[in-house]
Amino acid sequence: MRVGVVGCGLMGAGIAEVCARAGQDVVVVESDADRAAAGRARLTASLEKAQAKGKIDSAAEVLERISVGEDLQALGDREIVIEAIAEDESLKAALFAQLDQIVKASDAILATNTSSIPISRLAAVTGRPENVIGVHFFNPVPVLSLVEIVPGLLTADETTRRATDFAQDVLGKHAIRSPDRAGFVVNALLIPFVLSAIRMVEAGFATAEDIDEGLVRGAAHPMGPLRLADLIGLDTTAAVARSLYEEFKEPLFAPPPLLLRMVETGLLGRKSGRGFYTY
Ligand code: 3HC
Repeated sequence: MRVGVVGCGLMGAGIAEVCARAGQDVVVVESDADRAAAGRARLTASLEKAQAKGKIDSAAEVLERISVGEDLQALGDREIVIEAIAEDESLKAALFAQLDQIVKASDAILATNTSSIPISRLAAVTGRPENVIGVHFFNPVPVLSLVEIVPGLLTADETTRRATDFAQDVLGKHAIRSPDRAGFVVNALLIPFVLSAIRMVEAGFATAEDIDEGLVRGAAHPMGPLRLADLIGLDTTAAVARSLYEEFKEPLFAPPPLLLRMVETGLLGRKSGRGFYTY
């Protein structure tokens, strides 16, 4: 398929990589030349690592299927476009309005990788809400096999079927269906767990290291909740928490002050070099 990806950060690059590794033709669009160059470097590094581990034959061959640029018009001929820009509703809504104008095929799927913003609100800014759907990947995208498929209220059944087939049959992921509610299935469970761990640190109840060791060794989690928060990004964690809190008004979803102060200070986790841990 002709795939478009908007955004080449942590998630966008992972999605582009998985699509290209599955043999698809991928056009990635970033907002400026510096970000496009950083995105290209991110893709190259990840694919070279995959090649070194023998997971793919040739990084160069996969990279040939990916073009990274700055012009949204390059998405005109795409059959599916997956948006993976910052978790900011006004930015995403503005992008969907543009995609509606740019993507030519009337049956093209306009997908969003949002973690928490209602699909129906993004669909509403387009003239084709029946083609808009949530296709939510998990970080690291090349490693984690889940995709949440999130139809909005007006998403056509055919769009849901095609997006599910794309995730499962084309990309080899496992798809689960989620309702269009903030956090969907996984984040609605995972984020309050992470927030509880942050509250424990904030209250001096236990150290980040002990909490993480506890969950890794005592509950067989692949990584503890604070290391996971650093992996997700503390800004994204806070953004998802805000969306959940706004939707359900449950105190367990409210971002704790420590998380907010860390984000305001620029401590964003692994991507900024420091969060609960230093990288
Ligand atoms: N890209 C590609 N491959 C990667 C990778 C990356 N960024 N990070 C790790 N890997 C690969 C490694 O190459 C390795 O492959 P191998 O087994 O074939 O050699 C394998 O994954 C395991 O990696 P490591 O040995 O380096 O380290 P770990 O065994 O500790 O695994 C981990 C790292 C895969 C990140 C694992 O700890 C994990 O799965 N953690 C939980 C992650 C998680 O819960 N993510 C969901 C976040 S929520 C989300 O994304 C939703 C969003 O909306 C907020």
